[in-house]
Amino acid sequence: FSAFLTDSFGRRHSYLRISLTERCNLRCQYCMPEEGVPLTPKADLLTTEEILTLARLFVKEGVDKIRLTGGEPLIRPDVVDIVAQLRQLEGLRTIGITTNGINLARLLPQLQKAGLSAINISLDTLVPAKFEFIVRRKGFHKVMEGIHKAIELGYSPVKVNCVVMRGLNEDELLDFVALTEGLPLDVRFIEYMPFDGNRWNFKKMVSYKEMLDTLRQQWPELEKLPEEESSTAKAFKIPGFRGQISFITSMSEHFCGTCNRLRITADGNLKVCLFGNSEVSLRDHLRGGASEEELLRVIGAAVGRKKRQHAELFLMRQDSPPALPSTFRNSLCV
Ligand code: GTP
Ligand code: 5AD
Ligand code: SF4
Repeated sequence: FSAFLTDSFGRRHSYLRISLTERCNLRCQYCMPEEGVPLTPKADLLTTEEILTLARLFVKEGVDKIRLTGGEPLIRPDVVDIVAQLRQLEGLRTIGITTNGINLARLLPQLQKAGLSAINISLDTLVPAKFEFIVRRKGFHKVMEGIHKAIELGYSPVKVNCVVMRGLNEDELLDFVALTEGLPLDVRFIEYMPFDGNRWNFKKMVSYKEMLDTLRQQWPELEKLPEEESSTAKAFKIPGFRGQISFITSMSEHFCGTCNRLRITADGNLKVCLFGNSEVSLRDHLRGGASEEELLRVIGAAVGRKKRQHAELFLMRQDSPPALPSTFRNSLCV
């Protein structure tokens, strides 16, 4: 495995997340303000060619999984073409996408043909009116249609990301679990994370332990599944159910020790940790005519600076809100 992608704690970074756009067609309360996020001028965003050049380099060095993210990746007009071109890269095993699902039913047949292998869909409520409140837009039925289309086309499991917020959707946990009885879903309950301006507060966060208690009361037979290597999620299953449920415990039990992720932002910065602003512009090096060797040295240096874990200030504490780096600039969907 490439030394450039191995950090000083021995973590091998074989999973690359590429943000295709900063834009989104929803305005989830926990992620973006109503007016949206400040957008990078188009000329400063990575071109498709640049994305593919970088992807090729990372795959050559040992990346075997790429996830396309955003904003909302499915609003990039050439997303199908990007998937098709990534599919040509030898050594790349998985191409995933994390989407809000609005455009999914329409695009999935083409995406599947292009070679998309895994789908994660954000959905925080099963109540249409609440959906409109949380995401500040319409579209609940489109998202449900997207989920069903993914199942119909054979994706299994289809992962559903549900950010749990006290007073908003914590009362729906059991309804989400019920969905896994007949459908091959992995419903992932996510601890609400603080992000610049998302009005996070400790009281709104429902911890993994608390969620698990709620589920155990209704489903004492809930069974823990073996941990998957480098997964963000702790998985469980109710015996006899088709799908499973998981918890993403970024706040109460971080998983930095087994982190295998790197990120490229839509404007071409390499980010070695979701939390933190240490970013280096691969775009500038590309446009400056850097050779492959030079690019690898820049990437290797950034990976080498990766910290053991994100600041303890993110670990669950009573004092809210936690101090965030004031220029924390990417949404958590990156
Ligand atoms: P898989 O590739 O299917 O394992 O998905 P994933 O969990 O890596 O990605 P997804 O885009 O579905 O994100 C689900 C949740 O995990 C989101 O709330 C993310 O913020 C969180 N998450 C993703 N990557 C990281 C990470 O590197 N660190 C932390 N702390 N949380 C992450
Ligand atoms: N806390 C937890 N998860 C979040 N996501 C976006 N913002 C937050 C937050 N503040 C989730 C989205 C999406 C995933 C990539 O990140 O729901 O599914
Ligand atoms: Fe890895 Fe940073 Fe995420 Fe922790 S927060 S799991 S170190 S990327």
